[in-house]
Amino acid sequence: MNATATRVHVDLAGRAYDIVIGSGLLESAGALLKPVVAGRDLIVISDENVAALYLEKLQIAIETGGLKRPEAVVVPPGEGSKSIESFGRAAESLLGLGVDRRSIILALGGGVVGDLGGFLAATLLRGVDFIQIPTTLLAQVDSSVGGKTAIDSIHGKNLIGAFHQPLLVLADTDTLATLPPRELKAGYAEIVKYGLLGDKPFFEWLEDNGAAVLSGDPDALRTAVAKSCEAKARIVESDERENGARALLNLGHTFAHALEAETGFGDTLNHGEAVSIGMVLAFDLSVRLGHCSPNDLMTARGHLLRHGLPVSPPRTNDFSPSSLVRRMYNDKKAERGSLTFVLARGIGEAFVARGVDSGVVETTLLRALAA
Ligand code: NAD
Ligand code: GLY
Repeated sequence: MNATATRVHVDLAGRAYDIVIGSGLLESAGALLKPVVAGRDLIVISDENVAALYLEKLQIAIETGGLKRPEAVVVPPGEGSKSIESFGRAAESLLGLGVDRRSIILALGGGVVGDLGGFLAATLLRGVDFIQIPTTLLAQVDSSVGGKTAIDSIHGKNLIGAFHQPLLVLADTDTLATLPPRELKAGYAEIVKYGLLGDKPFFEWLEDNGAAVLSGDPDALRTAVAKSCEAKARIVESDERENGARALLNLGHTFAHALEAETGFGDTLNHGEAVSIGMVLAFDLSVRLGHCSPNDLMTARGHLLRHGLPVSPPRTNDFSPSSLVRRMYNDKKAERGSLTFVLARGIGEAFVARGVDSGVVETTLLRALAA
């Protein structure tokens, strides 16, 4: 293993696993996977973009490590591959390649491939093992960790899913060099989220090192991904099924999901951009409700803005506060008749607030849309 790789352990009874983070991990994949897979067959799922860049490299590394070269199922890139139809096609392809109970699925790609591959692993043959090899920053710091797997329904995103923890996560930060800058920034928003929700010193570290993370500096990237994974691991260990603390990971998400839904989950806003705006709105709402100082709002907002992330809803859309609030009531995480937000008492001090007054939410949105 690369000497500068970092290991984060996720300590879940009977389902514990490591997240290995660093550069050069794809080249060492054979050696890293060997102790975990113990002679079992591997089969890769990836998308066309990622497969063109990294599939052969991974297959060669696995062979070089003394394991059988894995076959692969490659799906089109994009959220469309999380449709029920795409899931069905991928399931049939994997079964056609002879997946059995001892097979291990390797999900090589971003959050789409990770969520799809994880849900295939959760359901094929009533459950097979899988390993995450995340290649987007968002997947390295969020979606590959914690065992949430899902596909989409016509009724909403991620509505058909399962909790299914991976056997291992290999986050090779070198793969981020080919990621479009907009996708890198989307992942950075999720990194900032960990600082804002529970770790002020990490946020302060990002104030000094965020530019280095975004410029691809290997040490800065490894540290930022590792700190994010540690934060997520500790939360998932305490609340795997989101009955309590795990909800803090949704900082900014009540606003973000409404904005994404209003823009049709299209190109106008990607998830990280929506989360960036949503976090600023959550701090703004916290100030309006008297929980947080305006200085903390300005600090959080300023950081996201300086690092190229949006901090207010795009002007290209004619958003209406009341229809955004209606979306929030319909969100899958909403409790009937009540609005739930992750709010903040300051940077690094998030908490879950239920029954938030919709009038204050509308005012927050109205001001943000007029700004
Ligand atoms: P993605 O998987 O669609 O990847 C974004 C784009 O980057 C795709 O076109 C992909 O082909 C390309 N790409 C991936 N890696 C690349 C690389 N190294 N170089 C060049 N191009 C590369 O998007 P994403 O943002 O990684 O993930 C979004 C998905 O993650 C959503 O479906 C969301 O619901 C899910 N998600 C899941 C969780 C969870 O806990 N399971 C958490 C957050 C998000
Ligand atoms: N991305 C939020 C969670 O994993 O709970």
